Amino acid sequence: MKKVSAIGLLAAVAMTPMLANGQDRAGDHPTYAGEVSRIIQENCQICHQPGQIGPMSFTSYEEVRPWAPLIQLKVAQREMPPYQYDRDIGVQELKNDWRMTQEDIDTIVEWVNAGSPLGNPEELPPAKDFPAVGEWRLAEELGQPDHTIKSSPWDVPANGQDLWWEPEVDSGITEARCIKAVETLPSAAAHGSTHHANSHFVVLNDEGEWVRGDRLSEFAFGKLGEKVPEGACRKVPANSKVGWSIHYYPDGNAVPNDQVTVGIWYHDEEDSFVEEESFRQDLRSYNLSGGGDYLIPPHGQLMTQGFHSFDHPVRIDSWQPHLHLRGVAMSMEIFDPATGQREVISQASNWNAGWNHSHTYEDGHQPLVPAGTTIILTAWYDNSANNPLNPDPDQWVGAGQRTTDEMSHAWIAVTHLDDEGYEKLLAEREERNRRAVAGNGGDE
Ligand code: HEC
Repeated sequence: MKKVSAIGLLAAVAMTPMLANGQDRAGDHPTYAGEVSRIIQENCQICHQPGQIGPMSFTSYEEVRPWAPLIQLKVAQREMPPYQYDRDIGVQELKNDWRMTQEDIDTIVEWVNAGSPLGNPEELPPAKDFPAVGEWRLAEELGQPDHTIKSSPWDVPANGQDLWWEPEVDSGITEARCIKAVETLPSAAAHGSTHHANSHFVVLNDEGEWVRGDRLSEFAFGKLGEKVPEGACRKVPANSKVGWSIHYYPDGNAVPNDQVTVGIWYHDEEDSFVEEESFRQDLRSYNLSGGGDYLIPPHGQLMTQGFHSFDHPVRIDSWQPHLHLRGVAMSMEIFDPATGQREVISQASNWNAGWNHSHTYEDGHQPLVPAGTTIILTAWYDNSANNPLNPDPDQWVGAGQRTTDEMSHAWIAVTHLDDEGYEKLLAEREERNRRAVAGNGGDE
């Protein structure tokens, strides 16, 4: 949970002589034209370009140069690109992983230490193409979505603080079908101010009350849509409603009557076999506090845990921690009472409530959990002044909905297997690992 000391880094920056005008200097160091421009294109421009949510644009040397010291700091601390997931522990094979390689980070650090030189302008790469604003990213592969659901209209002001819009709308879904893919799309006009937008189903329970159901979709800026892995069926509930939680951060443009849209692609009708032959997947919130209350004292710390087990084997497809401003870290472990073994499968120890990511494991790398083992979720909170995101260390903080209260749950997509399905997946992995080992030997 240790954060890189900001003071140490700043001192390093200050001690480095800065060269005027980005002039190149003799010696072997990275340049903007040579290496850094490409790293910025790949990792930053999706947000840091005009009309997007990054507060400044990084599309040219002139735009990047003034920010170089702050870029160095944010990149070295792994605060930018914003993706909170530990590198040194747990499953590292993730889809849409925004983390930079250590090599690219080192290149940026060295470049800034060398005075952020431009280098030879002829080496500059051509401008990078980005997907058109307001179009479905999955359309290229899957065509237009089969069903769309819109949040109710809301006026986004030009200026102001963070805003939350949480309407409930009719889903328009009349038939329970298996989702192939789902994507959330902000409007083109409010593209730069829609920070994230999450949606969940609201369903009727047996007592005839509307209750919160599974998560439908989650959107954080720059995110692609989500495809349900092969062999799994995540069903939409018929005659349901959809609850939205949209976080706007005004970007200078007022957008009257804004709506966010979620698009759903279904498995084809002919794929109806899908439902019989595949395993059920659901995306649910798993609690870390037994559902009860807790209090974090002023200047104090706290840890909460949640334990969950299944009477059948499961595959964990994704994990999304959710904490508020005092939350600093969360981990997910598997404990097998039969063997006494305990293993960390995911950990985020630089939690930042401004960013919510669903960490989706690569196909073939999703943790397989035998029946009867326990999933242990642990969260840590720091209500002291050492937590840079803590708005007020003098407050008592309890569990609740407001940003200034704490929350402690994780959204986890789980595919529910049977023994046969579990053994099959396990055998596939063993086969893959065996081949990898044989491949390394080079004599296959
Ligand atoms: C997913 C969108 C996104 C990506 C990708 C992204 N940023 Fe940002 N960046 C933001 C947003 C939004 C802010 C302002 C809010 C914040 O600081 O979290 C920001 C803030 C910053 C700041 C200013 C921080 C401050 O304290 O004022 C710097 C510097 C920065 N980003 C650099 C980068 C660099 C360098 C990259 C790529 C290596 C990058 N960002 C990638 C969205 C992004």
